[in-house]
Amino acid sequence: MNLTVIGTGYVGLVTGTCFAEMGNTVTCVDTDPAKVAQLGQGQIPIFEPGLDAMVKNNSKDGRLRFTTSLAEAMADSQIYFIAVGTPSNGDGSADLRQVLAVAREIGRHLNAYGVVVDKSTVPVGTAEKVREAIQGELQSRGVNIDFDVVSNPEFLKEGAAIDDFMRPDRIIVGSDSDRAREIMRQLYAPFNMNRDRTLYMGVRDAEMTKYAANAMLATKISFINEIAGLCDRLDVDVENVRLGIGSDARIGYSFIYPGCGYGGSCFPKDVKAIIHLAESCRFEPRLLRSVEERNQAQRRVLCQKVRERFGDDLSGLTFGVWGLAFKPGTDDLREAPAVVLLHELIGAGAKVRAYDPVAMDAARRQLPAAWFDNGDLVLCEHQYHALQDVDAMILVTEWKPFRTPDFHAMRKLMKQPVIFDGRNQYEPQTVKQAGFEYQGIGRKS
Ligand SMILES: NC(=O)c1ccc[n+]([C@@H]2O[C@H](COP(=O)([O-])OP(=O)(O)OC[C@H]3O[C@@H](n4cnc5c(N)ncnc54)[C@H](O)[C@@H]3O)[C@@H](O)[C@H]2O)c1
Repeated sequence: MNLTVIGTGYVGLVTGTCFAEMGNTVTCVDTDPAKVAQLGQGQIPIFEPGLDAMVKNNSKDGRLRFTTSLAEAMADSQIYFIAVGTPSNGDGSADLRQVLAVAREIGRHLNAYGVVVDKSTVPVGTAEKVREAIQGELQSRGVNIDFDVVSNPEFLKEGAAIDDFMRPDRIIVGSDSDRAREIMRQLYAPFNMNRDRTLYMGVRDAEMTKYAANAMLATKISFINEIAGLCDRLDVDVENVRLGIGSDARIGYSFIYPGCGYGGSCFPKDVKAIIHLAESCRFEPRLLRSVEERNQAQRRVLCQKVRERFGDDLSGLTFGVWGLAFKPGTDDLREAPAVVLLHELIGAGAKVRAYDPVAMDAARRQLPAAWFDNGDLVLCEHQYHALQDVDAMILVTEWKPFRTPDFHAMRKLMKQPVIFDGRNQYEPQTVKQAGFEYQGIGRKS
């Protein structure tokens, strides 16, 4: 099949590449000319394991190409995926400007029946807005062309995006049209070879499913973080509690790891958006408001622990931070707890030496230039360089190379032997035996 994917961020690029991998001819469109030029030369603007080779191979074989022109891309395709960003507005609602701009552009260039697929995460009712935007353009052109709008939310995880897309837990297709449903069935058939993973439902049901999934995962994280806060105050080790509750099959182990809060481009904005959605229909989202509040507080827990240990004024102190990306496996710094921590530490007068296995370039581009100019933040080439003469080490992102560090070497490098473990990666006993003071999240120190 011939398809167009609009937006070549994490979702659009992975979607387009995986469909090309299955033999489809895919044109990816983005308004960012630099990104399109880069992709055209086989350079991948994001870090995503396995994506690089797949983009190169499919481009070489002529199944994947990149352009800034939607008109050109639409000329020979019948399915149009909208995979642009839906960031938060100031009031927490989802900003649909990119989605609706794409819808209007589709309306300006649609010449035959097509299926418009919302892959971006969008609030309930957006497919209707997309339909109206396209219809409006068709009307002003004075043409009558049939089209369908389908909701097909994406569940991939950054860092495991290819695998998630190629072997999804489920494929959600929200459609009120038999014709569109059949096209989607054919398109996803290669991903359903051993068992059909597709769940067909109404468009609004599909839109809600995506928000509900992210809200549920965020709820699990905030729940365990709340329990961890309590454990901190009651001299209980939350890691024992985690194992104790996770072993209950009704609860399970996933997404109940205590830490310094969730981040990334999805959970924070999607929880805010569903809260806003509830408010807009005068329904009080009591639970989700608490999930969001707990997370806001949790992102400051590490700095609170630092202040309790070193005092409110951190000037004259240097901290070594391990991990900047919002989670391992990605270079994405959006809403990363590490960025919140850097603001707090530097704001309180501290200097920071930081290291991340893949997010260093993104950090150099995205963090305030003044931090680098003033020497407030130094990005180090190696995890141990980040510990040179520091007053404490703070682990924020649980990358694998941080899991079993050489505590002996660390002890020699650091000015003061203090470790704040924001992801409970270390055994407190082991760290203490190596001569360190240890503070984790919700565990005896
Ligand atoms: N990142 C994830 O892990 C993830 C997972 C599931 C769902 N989502 C959802 O998918 C959507 C996209 O997320 P993302 O992380 O890929 O976003 P992103 O910000 O990384 O990428 C969006 C891309 O769209 C491009 N764009 C903006 N307007 C455009 C236009 N008019 N025409 C063509 N291109 C345009 C931008 O230049 C950018 O390259 C969001 O709604 C997000 O919530 C993201």
